Amino acid sequence: MNDDNSRALYDRALSVMPGGVNSAVRAAIEPYPFFVQKGDGGHVIDVDGNRYIDWVMGLGPLLLGHDLPDPVQASIQQKASEGPMYGTPTEIEVDLAEFVVRHVPSVEKIRFVNSGTEATVSAIRLARGYTGRNKILINQGGYHGAQESTLVEGDAENPRPSSAGIPQSFSEHTIPVAFNDEDAVREAFEEHGDDIAAVLTEPILANYGIVHPEDGYHEFLREITDEHGSLLIFDEVITGFRVGGLGCAQTEFGVTPDLTTFGKIIGGGFPVGAIGGRAEIVEQFAPSGPVFQAGTFSGHPVTMAAGLETLQFAAEHNVYDHVDELGDRLRDGLSEIVADQAPEYTVAGTASMYKVIFTRDGKAPKNGADVKNAETDRWRRVFWGQMKEQGIFLSQNQFECQFVSDDHTDEDVDRTLEAYKEAL
Ligand SMILES: Cc1ncc(COP(=O)(O)O)c(C=O)c1O
Repeated sequence: MNDDNSRALYDRALSVMPGGVNSAVRAAIEPYPFFVQKGDGGHVIDVDGNRYIDWVMGLGPLLLGHDLPDPVQASIQQKASEGPMYGTPTEIEVDLAEFVVRHVPSVEKIRFVNSGTEATVSAIRLARGYTGRNKILINQGGYHGAQESTLVEGDAENPRPSSAGIPQSFSEHTIPVAFNDEDAVREAFEEHGDDIAAVLTEPILANYGIVHPEDGYHEFLREITDEHGSLLIFDEVITGFRVGGLGCAQTEFGVTPDLTTFGKIIGGGFPVGAIGGRAEIVEQFAPSGPVFQAGTFSGHPVTMAAGLETLQFAAEHNVYDHVDELGDRLRDGLSEIVADQAPEYTVAGTASMYKVIFTRDGKAPKNGADVKNAETDRWRRVFWGQMKEQGIFLSQNQFECQFVSDDHTDEDVDRTLEAYKEAL
């Protein structure tokens, strides 16, 4: 595969951008990432003319794939051509807010922001402001964006920043515990219960290989937060409008959080985040409440149009049936291949999310540490390149989830399964 143009671009990028990229994970590909020229349905074509079946889909936002349906494109172009933004409200913000409130039962009010990170930052500030408490309980291996309160490693006794540039004193307010570990959560509440503002969790860990909650885990979190007057925040930046269709993962699990953070699909491929939840809590945001929150680009008309038209299209065209069915086909096919060729490995995922996790102990990962102990180097250094050579674009490392879009076809699935057969 010729990659002269990608190499030359990366060389230029290294001179002007740290690590040659604008988001850390993009440089995980070695020796350098390929640069994309354009998307085409469920595929991308790079600057050297190589075509790949794309299971990354922008890291999640592109539910409909790269070929946006006519009404979605028309609405985006109309908003862009009318003048991109105004600094004063527009009708389309209200339309998208109403759509979300109609479809996600826990959301009575919503505030739009510009990224998943901004959503979780604001949700944590809101939870602290509403409860008057300081601490946030998170799951090790969960990802909530590039922000001070959640870039924390260690455990409940010894939390510490996982990045340079974050004061130790910030992480002292964060309690990291293992996903699915009810005892650890119980202990944290016994010790700090009256200062825990919220438990913040992804319904399914989607940035750490895909780890599913054990039966009853979310119900347990709901009960213990209620018992202690803490909030339950579901971070549905990935699972929102992907798992459980328009009701999101919370309806699939039958657990109602107090707050939900959204991102990715809700902006139809444009920069977005949102915080939704019980009116009484969300009303604490300024200007109706004392928790300051604002943003020049928040509720951007082009983003709102892309998000609304994407979700409306999904509602009207059986998109979830299609992507979930292909997700099933991928997981079933991969399970057969794995059973035959790599029985220690695990096929994980649900709906339109999937991943093969290179665990070596033969059982599905239960938390982030299990995935970390998998053969992550083999995945990234050996396996990823073998898939790329066969024209399959998988997420950049063992940890990031892969996504099916409405543009993917049965043929894409067949070709991908053949490639896995070859590479595993
Ligand atoms: C669950 C979750 N929360 C928050 C974020 C941060 O979103 P963003 O990258 O838009 O800031 C991500 C990003 O992947 C995510 O997966």
